[in-house]
Amino acid sequence: MGAPSENRQPAGRLVCTVDDVSLKSAKRLEVDGFAVAVVKDSEGNLFAIGDACSHGEISLSEGDVEGQTIECWAHGSSFDLRTGEALTLPAFEPIPVFALAVDGADVYVDVENILNGVAAPESEA
Ligand code: FES
Repeated sequence: MGAPSENRQPAGRLVCTVDDVSLKSAKRLEVDGFAVAVVKDSEGNLFAIGDACSHGEISLSEGDVEGQTIECWAHGSSFDLRTGEALTLPAFEPIPVFALAVDGADVYVDVENILNGVAAPESEA
């Protein structure tokens, strides 16, 4: 108490703005050495997931967003954007889901806060 009020910034990195990601699409970003896909569903909800399919070295941000899932274009596995769970074969392992916060128009992703406990592979790029 008594501390001057400050603008509290969300944890993590400022990665993009809300409008940088179109409805039902995803944007690939490098955040602190991790490849992250920021995904917007058809209702405008945003999610941050690891941008690699758990079945192969495919960027999920190139896939299709349907409801609150994203589908890998290579072999059709879809993943739940909220839980990271693989919903359809051939992928069966989950992908990491990172903490994402929206502050006004700004989108923050915290790659140190993995919501579903799935380890994220570091990006080679
Ligand atoms: S690489 Fe994604 S389903 Fe096979």
